[in-house]
Amino acid sequence: MTAMTLENARAYEAEFKASADAERPAFHLTPAIGWMNDPNGFSVYKGEYHLFYQYYPYATTWGPMHWGHAKTKDFVTWEYLPCALAPDTTADERGVFSGTALELEDGRQLLVYTGVYGRENMPEDLHGYQHQCAAIGDGINYEKMSVNPIIGADKLPEGISDIDFRDPKVFKSGDYYYVLAVARVEDGTGSAVLFSSTDLENWVFESRIISCEGRYGTMWECPDFFALDGTECLTFCAHETLPEGYEFHAGYGNFFFIGRYDIASQTFEKDHVQAVDYGCDFYAQQTLETEDGRRILVAWMQNWNDVHVKGNDTKIFGAMTLPRELRIKNNRLYQWPVREIENYRSNKVEYKDIAVNKEMSLEGIEGRVIDLNVSIRPDEDGSFRKFYLKLARTGGQYAEIIFNPETNVVKFDRTYGVSRYDYVTTRKFKVEDRDGALDLRILVDKNGVEIFANGGAQACTSKIYTPVDAGDITFESRGNCVIDVTKYDLCK
Ligand code: FRU
Repeated sequence: MTAMTLENARAYEAEFKASADAERPAFHLTPAIGWMNDPNGFSVYKGEYHLFYQYYPYATTWGPMHWGHAKTKDFVTWEYLPCALAPDTTADERGVFSGTALELEDGRQLLVYTGVYGRENMPEDLHGYQHQCAAIGDGINYEKMSVNPIIGADKLPEGISDIDFRDPKVFKSGDYYYVLAVARVEDGTGSAVLFSSTDLENWVFESRIISCEGRYGTMWECPDFFALDGTECLTFCAHETLPEGYEFHAGYGNFFFIGRYDIASQTFEKDHVQAVDYGCDFYAQQTLETEDGRRILVAWMQNWNDVHVKGNDTKIFGAMTLPRELRIKNNRLYQWPVREIENYRSNKVEYKDIAVNKEMSLEGIEGRVIDLNVSIRPDEDGSFRKFYLKLARTGGQYAEIIFNPETNVVKFDRTYGVSRYDYVTTRKFKVEDRDGALDLRILVDKNGVEIFANGGAQACTSKIYTPVDAGDITFESRGNCVIDVTKYDLCK
């Protein structure tokens, strides 16, 4: 087995990266080679956007975690940088798990991550014991701090487990650095714990800012915490979520809390709770703030429950979503694809006031790397009952969006693809009642689709498994409706 050194990872990716190019989607970041999961260290550094990721270069399965690295000026065109961190010290010998990054005042870049390590009598489990570590560098090369772990098990108050203690979010406020991590507490479920430091070396436990109460999943993962549009927002993901109406589905869930952080008690009070994304494949979201004040979110375009669904001869596995701009309006999260993607639009095809009933296609409305906008409204005859849009289609293989104007429920369905494996094939979400009208923006990029409903009030992200050149699009309705359609190809 290859030794898990940074040198080996860098040599391996330099040799094999190009062999995966034919498989890559057009504008979604994939690993240099091998496996990718969570986004890490999504941040601005020296005027560019850096994105690290959970990475195992040597196979398309999860393994001893490294941090892969890429950067971009516009969130669409990425440049790979050499692997940033490998599990090569005693503090992280079993894995360099998720974390975040911060530009320091002296111009260096700080990475704070979870180091996974073993103890005597502990089986060779790659989840091991967990503590928080740091590395500092220049945007390409990073040196791990000699005091690692910076936040060890000894900093945890009684009752908080160091078997599940991970995913530090680092930020600065006034003279203090803060780390918000997640940890499993007495009742076996998740909470978010806050630490502070003035020198990055000596950290103290501040508080448990919020606990799960057994409601929003069990173990939490990947917290983020930021102010937006006059509110404070806390996001995270969770294992073993219980379904709740159309808001949360069973299993690996993603959560967005809008609320208030109370400085005196150091607790977060949630006022509004919702999912970030309603699709089959969305996890471990992180955000950054751009210099022009936009809050941008990126997530892993995958769910742990369907990582077994892949071809035999793939050289890469895992992708990021297209980064999105976030806003809060009327106590709800709105998401919209980064505006920079519009610079990649070409070949506009537009139709207005098209009557839909039986299955139909529209000349020029097709493709597998597209930005498709569809506005649906009922015909005046009052007969409109359901709308069906099939995409990434060839014959009987397609992914489908179904809208019920009576219940205001949108269903995404990817049942009819070419995968022979068992996996979650449908998700549903509720949209605002607009008297039977619905606006959809649909970004398709080879094996992924991101759907934004009603100006971004709901997002639904999923991988799709039809043949990658299947690009037909059809429309159909039960009863009569009318649509406007605009399609752009997305080209680099
Ligand atoms: C979330 C996660 C994190 C952890 C990482 C390990 O997907 O489980 O909690 O740091 O992946 O790769």
